Amino acid sequence: MASSLLSDEKNGRKSLHTLHMERQEQAERSVLISCQSSTNEKKFLKYLSKHGEINKYFFYESYGVYAVVEFANQESVTSLLEGVAIPGGIHESTVPFKSRLLSLRNLGSVDSSNQLSGLQCQPQTTIPINELIKTLSREQSIDKQISSLTEAYQLTEENSRLRFLICSLLKDIATAYFPECTIKPFGSSVNGFGKLGCDLDMLLDLDSITGRNVKLPKSGLSLEYQMKRANSERAVTQSILSVIGECVDQFGPGCVGVQKILNARCPLVRFAHQPSGFQCDLTANNRVAMKSTELLYLYGELDPRVRSLVFTVRCWARAHGVTSSIPGAWITNFSLTVMVLFFLQKRSPPIIPTLDHLRDLAGPADKSVIEGNDCTFVSDFNKIQLQSNTETLEQLLGEFFEFYATFPFSRMSINIRKGKEQNKPEVAPLHIQNPFETSLNVSKNVNASQLDRFVALVQESAWLLQQSETSTPRGGGAGGEGAPTPWGLASLLLPSQVAGIKSRKKRRREPASERIKGLLESLKNKNQLKKS
Ligand code: GTP
Ligand code: MG
Repeated sequence: MASSLLSDEKNGRKSLHTLHMERQEQAERSVLISCQSSTNEKKFLKYLSKHGEINKYFFYESYGVYAVVEFANQESVTSLLEGVAIPGGIHESTVPFKSRLLSLRNLGSVDSSNQLSGLQCQPQTTIPINELIKTLSREQSIDKQISSLTEAYQLTEENSRLRFLICSLLKDIATAYFPECTIKPFGSSVNGFGKLGCDLDMLLDLDSITGRNVKLPKSGLSLEYQMKRANSERAVTQSILSVIGECVDQFGPGCVGVQKILNARCPLVRFAHQPSGFQCDLTANNRVAMKSTELLYLYGELDPRVRSLVFTVRCWARAHGVTSSIPGAWITNFSLTVMVLFFLQKRSPPIIPTLDHLRDLAGPADKSVIEGNDCTFVSDFNKIQLQSNTETLEQLLGEFFEFYATFPFSRMSINIRKGKEQNKPEVAPLHIQNPFETSLNVSKNVNASQLDRFVALVQESAWLLQQSETSTPRGGGAGGEGAPTPWGLASLLLPSQVAGIKSRKKRRREPASERIKGLLESLKNKNQLKKS
C-alpha cells in the first residue's frame, strides 16, 4: 500500500484516501476567524503568530470577511483557544462552547489614508454564466473553451481546505457524543467534479471505533451498551442523526436552518453553514456513497479529458435547466456524470475502463462488500493500463451529444460496470444502473418529459456544433473591443439558443432545411441583440 501511494505521488496523483488524510490533518490545525474588511493583515498575522508558526492563511467573503488560518502545530490552536474571550454580558446569553470559529475585533484597522483594506479575498463562488460565456467567446478553439470552463468552475485549493475545515468544526460537535468519530466530505466536494459553490455532502464516520468489526469473543469484554439495540441499522442511523442534528441546531455556531430529513431513503440533516456559505447535507452510515465518490475520483484522475468533459456537460445541463438545485424529476449531476463515463467507455478505443475491469484488477486490500454489494475495485492507479485514444475534447463533446441524440433510451439501460448498454430490467424512461447497488436505477426520478427535453437538447447541441456558424471563432476575439460574439461552447450555453425546441415532435415534422434556417436565424438575431 505504502509503495503504491509513493509511486502514485511521483506521478502527481494522490489516492482519495491520501487526500482525505492530508486535508483532515490540515483542518485540525486550522481555525476560522470572522474579521472586519478593514482588518490590518500585518497586525492580524502578528497577533496570531504569538501562538505559533502559521503555515497558510487566506481571506474570503461570505456575509462578511473571514480568514482561514492553518497553524504548523496543533498546540497553537490549543494555545489560541485558551486565550479567547467568550462573549457575554447582561443582555447576551451564550452557550460556552469553544469552537474554532472565532471573531476578531478591534485589532486595529488599516490606515484610513489607505483606502483599500489590502485584504485579498479568494473567490468561493463561480463567475456568473454571462461572464463565463464572454470569457469562452474570447478563446480561439473549442478545446481551449472547455479547459477554460474547467479552470473557472473547479474547486480551488482554498475552497477544498475550507470544506475540510467545516467538516472538522462539525466533528468537534459530534465528538461530544462519539469521541472517536470523524466527519468526511464526499460527493462533488472531493470527487474531482465539484464546482465552486456546490453543496457540501458529509458523512459521519463511526467505523474507526475500535472493535466495531471485531467478532464477539466467547469470553472477555464487550461493550455493555451493545445491549442497547435498535431494530434496524436504519433506525440507528436515524437516531444518531437526530441527536447530532439537534446538537448542530442548538450549539453549532453559524449553522442555520437545520432540517432533519430522517425519513428519506438516505436519512440526512440539512443546514446552511453561514460563515462558509455552504449548503450542507450530513449523512451517516452511507458507505456506498463514499465508494461512488472514490470511483468517480479515480475515473477523473485517469485522464484529464474525463473531468473537463464532465464539467462541460454539467455546466451545459445547468444552463438549460436539465439539472436543477431543487430535487424533482430532473436528471441529477450524479446521473449525468455516469452518462459521461459510460460514453467515454464506449469510445473506440475506450478512454476509461469498465468497472468490472477495475474490479478484476483489485488486490486483496481493495476488497469491499457493503451490505451484500460488491464494491471492490482497484485503488492503485499504476495497475490500470489505458488505451491510447487521442480524440480531442472538441471531438468528444460533439460525439457525446451525437451519442445520446441516438441512444435507444426506451429499450436500453446505461451500465458502467459492463461498459455496454443492457436491456432495461424495469420500466423507467431513463435507466442508469447504480454501479454498486446493481438492482437500483440512479435515475429513477427522471420522468418522460425531462428525458425528452434532454434528448431534444443533445440533438440541438450536436447539430449546432456541426454548423460552421457556431463552430468557428467569431471575431471580437482576444483583445477585441466590446462583447465578443458567442461561438462554440459559449453558444451552446446560451439558454435561448435552444428555446426554440418547445416540442421535439413538432420539430420533427418540419423539414430539416426549415429547422436549420430557423436556427441560423435565431443565432443571427441573438448576435444582433448582443451587439446592440
Ligand atoms: P452536486 O450536484 O455538485 O452536489 O453533485 P454530487 O455528486 O455531490 O451529488 P449529490 O450531492 O446529489 O450526491 C452526493 C453523492 O451521493 C454523489 O456524488 C454520489 O456519490 C451519491 N449519490 C447521489 N445520488 C445518488 C443516487 O441516485 N444513487 C447513488 N447510488 N448514489 C448517489
Ligand atoms: Mg453534492
